[in-house]
Amino acid sequence: MHIILLGPPGAGKGTQAKVLTEKLRVPHISTGDILRQNVASGTPLGKEAKDYMERGALVPDELVTRMVIERLGRADTDHGCVLDGYPRNINQAKALDEALKQKDETIGLVIYLVASEAVIVQRLCGRLVCSSCGANFHVTNMPPKKAGICDACGGKLYQRSDDKEETIRKRLAVYLSESAPVVQYYEAQKKLHSFSADEDVSVVLRKMLEVIKVYDDSLKV
Ligand code: AP5
Repeated sequence: MHIILLGPPGAGKGTQAKVLTEKLRVPHISTGDILRQNVASGTPLGKEAKDYMERGALVPDELVTRMVIERLGRADTDHGCVLDGYPRNINQAKALDEALKQKDETIGLVIYLVASEAVIVQRLCGRLVCSSCGANFHVTNMPPKKAGICDACGGKLYQRSDDKEETIRKRLAVYLSESAPVVQYYEAQKKLHSFSADEDVSVVLRKMLEVIKVYDDSLKV
């Protein structure tokens, strides 16, 4: 089943997607992660995307959509995937519907993580990411056992360049104007399930799994 995780920056999409994909045994497709990998390796896509990302703006639709369609074309998505960070506007939502239609597939379920602005700013200002495996930590909410070092792989932790308070507020404004209509798009299709993302990670995960199980009864939770 193809599942979309929607929600503002810092709602916990990446954190939840990592656990969900392990449970569901499907790939995690994070457009933010793919773009950051391209920026880090200096590809033409990365060079084009870098400035948009640092300003907290959306990377142009045609670049991101081409990247997602290419990723969905790989065989490991045949049994589904968890999309994190895409679609981010109505254009992208329609492009995704079209790409899945070509494969005779559709979006099964959309999970909307609702978070308050105060929580978002607190989470993103303190977020730490592993430069090696991409695991997420937080200076106070989820501190690593050893400062600056990833618990999972021993990699070095860093702060994302778009996690400065000013850029976080810009990303939030972009989310409200561009991405919020996507919520209505899937609500109208009766695919949307909303959860408060202000709760503890394990509580949010348990509630999501209960809903997913209704759609996929082979899931052991
Ligand atoms: P992207 O990487 O997708 O960033 P985002 O959507 O802003 O989301 P984040 O990764 O910041 O937050 P998240 O919801 O994943 O939260 P996380 O789990 O990390 O995109 C970055 C940029 O790329 C965009 O600004 C844009 O430029 C470009 N881009 C990407 N996709 C695009 C697209 N489709 N079109 C155009 N441009 C695109 O959690 C955050 C922190 O909180 C962590 O420290 C975590 O440990 C902690 N945390 C998580 N859940 C909880 C909890 N329940 N309780 C306590 N702490 C928690």
